[in-house]
Amino acid sequence: MEVNIHMKKKFSLLFLACLFVFALAGCGGGAKEGSTSASGKKITVGTDASFPPFEFMSPTGEPQGFDIDLIKAIAETQNIEVQVKHTGWDAMMAGLEDGSVDVGIAGITITKERKKSFDFTTPYFTAKQVILMKKNAPAVSKVADLKGKKIGVQSGTTGQFLVEKHLGKGYSGLKGFEEVAGAIEDMKNGRIDAVVADNAVVKKFMEQLKLDNVNIIEDTSAEQEQYGIAVKKGNKELLDKLNKGLATVKENGKYDEIYNKYLGK
Ligand code: ARG
Repeated sequence: MEVNIHMKKKFSLLFLACLFVFALAGCGGGAKEGSTSASGKKITVGTDASFPPFEFMSPTGEPQGFDIDLIKAIAETQNIEVQVKHTGWDAMMAGLEDGSVDVGIAGITITKERKKSFDFTTPYFTAKQVILMKKNAPAVSKVADLKGKKIGVQSGTTGQFLVEKHLGKGYSGLKGFEEVAGAIEDMKNGRIDAVVADNAVVKKFMEQLKLDNVNIIEDTSAEQEQYGIAVKKGNKELLDKLNKGLATVKENGKYDEIYNKYLGK
């Protein structure tokens, strides 16, 4: 093909236009997740939004709840921008380890074992495991009494650990669920006898699902648990900021406001 001077000019104009478009696209690509902006750092918060009132999905599919308001309030005091993602429980833990999640907030109980892999803020909530059972079931008063019964827990949570502590690891009646709601559903349908999970959450599900033929049994021998916000082990910079922010919101009334909103006075 013969290229005359006129066409050359056209080509170079086209070339310049392309350069311009690429330059623009390049600029846009700079504002990625995790980059610092004028307002501070943007961090990814992972949660398991199946745990009301601490975290649940809004009708439009956004995680919301006590923990979500809390982490947003904390971040605001520290000039940190947050993006909250519903990752699910296991993926949140894995994400903290591989760095795809900066902060985990999901009613996570601070345990010795977990402290080996994560660092936690100072506690922000006190909880306890309780037993949920049908009213017509033979009376029990503690987890150890559930021997021989089918018990549902959320896998990888302190509910599971408590059952294992009393009835042994590999207890054949233990059934793990991805979410507490699945365990409650199975109990309602008689596939399992009891559910062991965190007190405030069990109470919330009882209200939401209008479960009136069930009892919440408090095992007085169960230890108190403390919820903390998790970061990757060694991320001291972020942990310090979260602790500072948590102290601030506890002081300035914001924590109480969130508490009353989701847990009543
Ligand atoms: N507190 C319990 C634990 O740390 C259960 C937490 C479950 N949280 C959730 N968002 N599903 O093991």
